[in-house]
Amino acid sequence: MKILAIETSCDETGIALLEASGPVTRPKLKVLENFVASQIKIHQPFGGVVPNIAKREHLKNLPILFKKLQKKYPKLKFDIITVTVGPGLEPALWTGITFAQSLAKEYNVPLIGANHLEGHLYSFLLSDKIKSSNIFPAVALIVSGGHTIILKLDSFSQWKRLGETRDDAAGEAFDKVARLLELSYPGGPQIESLAKKGNAHAIAFPRPMLHDKNYDFSFSGLKTSVLYYMREHADANKADVAASFQEAALDVLTKKTARAAQAFGARSIMLSGGVAANKALRKRLQKEAEKMGCKFFVPEFKYNLDNGAMIGVAGYMAHLRKKRFKIQANGSLEI
Ligand code: KG4
Ligand code: ZN
Repeated sequence: MKILAIETSCDETGIALLEASGPVTRPKLKVLENFVASQIKIHQPFGGVVPNIAKREHLKNLPILFKKLQKKYPKLKFDIITVTVGPGLEPALWTGITFAQSLAKEYNVPLIGANHLEGHLYSFLLSDKIKSSNIFPAVALIVSGGHTIILKLDSFSQWKRLGETRDDAAGEAFDKVARLLELSYPGGPQIESLAKKGNAHAIAFPRPMLHDKNYDFSFSGLKTSVLYYMREHADANKADVAASFQEAALDVLTKKTARAAQAFGARSIMLSGGVAANKALRKRLQKEAEKMGCKFFVPEFKYNLDNGAMIGVAGYMAHLRKKRFKIQANGSLEI
């Protein structure tokens, strides 16, 4: 079937066209188009995403991206439309939902609500073909600007949340520390590139909750430690601070995920979300997976940040599972 997918939960407007087939155990996906209009430059002067500006930009970009698709496919047809219904910024989500609703009417096709976090979780399926179900049980780490979650999956449709952050999300911590270092938004990629020039063991920042017997995280204390360090060291080497902060954050993320994989006898580890674009994180978690004889799944770089294609997979899975999210922004949608 052909799927039109729409994503507007934060600061990227995404419209994608996919071909999907296969059962929920072995979905096959082919991305035909994945148009993303990024608003990063517009939010940059504010140091973060401004919800009403995001809404305005989505309203402007949605028809532009859709026209681009129509131009490429003059006889454009699809069997379902899927749209992110949450979690995300409420004003931003509504722009996508309203746009999708009117297209569903015009094209007379069903509209399926998709969960943004499921989109991240399944995004590796856009490139990897799953041949058998011996990848389960799996442990998944979803790390984005809004969430940090560890899941245990028994299949692509059965999972349980093992833990999550109690305060800041991992991406949020990268963004806040970047601001302390006077780097621009979004901070994750900036910290990553500055960290390459620094010594990761120069400063012993704390590893919050690393030894707690649970799978929860906390990043706000780590961010505060960086704040105090910067206050006390006017001449701090920012590259060392970035590298040492990243090392502390990745230490906790990878060690706790590995511990969960060990405890639940995971056959694979899945990494996703915007922070999964971080090469050091990908490398470290892959190493941990290899040590345990686990398979490691991570999306291609182009699918790490918010995009329409990942919502296409989430929508296809929701369609197969007949688990419909209400077409209503931020309903009871938590993964
Ligand atoms: O998934 P995403 O695009 O949006 C949300 O759903 O939140 O993730 C965005 C987050 C931002 O906090 C950004 O700083 C972070 O992902 N990020 C990174 C990297 N690239 C993006 N964090 C660390 N290293 C990166 N290379
Ligand atoms: Zn996201």
